[in-house]
Amino acid sequence: MLDIGALKSKFLSALETATSEEAIENLRVEALGKKGEISLALREMGQMAEDMRQKIGPELNEFRKSFADEIARRKEAFADAALNLRLEAEGLDMSRPARPRNHGTIHPVSQVTEEIVAIFADLGYSVAEGPQLETDWYNFDALNMAPEHPARQEHDTFYMHRDEGDNRPPHVLRTHTSPVQIRHMEKHGVPCRIIAPGRVYRADYDQTHTPMFHQYEGLCIDEGVSMANLKWTLQEFCRAFFEVENVDLRFRASHFPFTEPSAEVDIRCSWAGGQLKVGEGDDWLEVLGCGMVHPNVLSSAGVDPETHQGFAFGMGIDRLAMLKYGIPDLRAFFDSDIRWLRHYGFSVLDRPDLAGGLSK
Ligand code: DAH
Repeated sequence: MLDIGALKSKFLSALETATSEEAIENLRVEALGKKGEISLALREMGQMAEDMRQKIGPELNEFRKSFADEIARRKEAFADAALNLRLEAEGLDMSRPARPRNHGTIHPVSQVTEEIVAIFADLGYSVAEGPQLETDWYNFDALNMAPEHPARQEHDTFYMHRDEGDNRPPHVLRTHTSPVQIRHMEKHGVPCRIIAPGRVYRADYDQTHTPMFHQYEGLCIDEGVSMANLKWTLQEFCRAFFEVENVDLRFRASHFPFTEPSAEVDIRCSWAGGQLKVGEGDDWLEVLGCGMVHPNVLSSAGVDPETHQGFAFGMGIDRLAMLKYGIPDLRAFFDSDIRWLRHYGFSVLDRPDLAGGLSK
């Protein structure tokens, strides 16, 4: 005969002494699983005499239910305790240093471009852009460089392919930012004050030349603009850009088809100890080309040279970056070598502005 009392106390004391979630699960299988003792006892009740069944049945069922509840409760308690232990062990220490993370840097070309833009924005210039793939009219003709003009040969131009039988003049990768002068005046008219930074292309490759490099163009057209305005503007730029109070500029007569008169500008510097210092010493460093915009250029852009005139200038951005930040080889600019970028790159948080100093 089934001894319910013995069954109950056996399992209750086993539950009492079970010290892990696993032990409780084993006990559950032993008592309540398919072949568990309580399950079997319940199944065997079918064969019992009616009166016995009525006597034992409810009690056994009651015990099965309360024992199952108790097991669930104890299991949950163990799971909670295990979770608490884990949480304690894994506590977050906010005072610990963060894990080092890789982040990128601002490329010297981008940095210097932003510096230039900041300086000229302060002088009332806005930024203009033009396409890198140009017609040869914008790149040459409109800038007073006729097809037979010798200056065209000096540009080592990349010409785009034309299909056989297509006799239109080929497009070119622009060899300078000067065509933006024409595009801007055509579209927006005069007066205007713009700078146009961007990529330019020439078939050339050595320590100071790469087939793609960066220039920016400056253009200021109005009534009564003079060479003196040009000189002041460039002086102001060099003073702000190289961050020296006294810049000495030397204007050398030169020739560009798109300006008349034309000049190349050198800046006083010293190379003492192999280190470039701007504003002192007895050396001169060529930094840009400039001049008064040629009447033919104004006419090409639909501007009347009788009423309006002004100046233009062009500089190499990469070259300015090399000079200002002491970077010896231009080719490395475009190698994407992560070590070079880390060394010469600028912090993302360090954006140039005139009030805060251009570069820290
Ligand atoms: N476009 C010239 C070059 O690439 C640079 C230049 C010289 C631009 C004189 C000008 C300028 O606007 O007036 O070599």
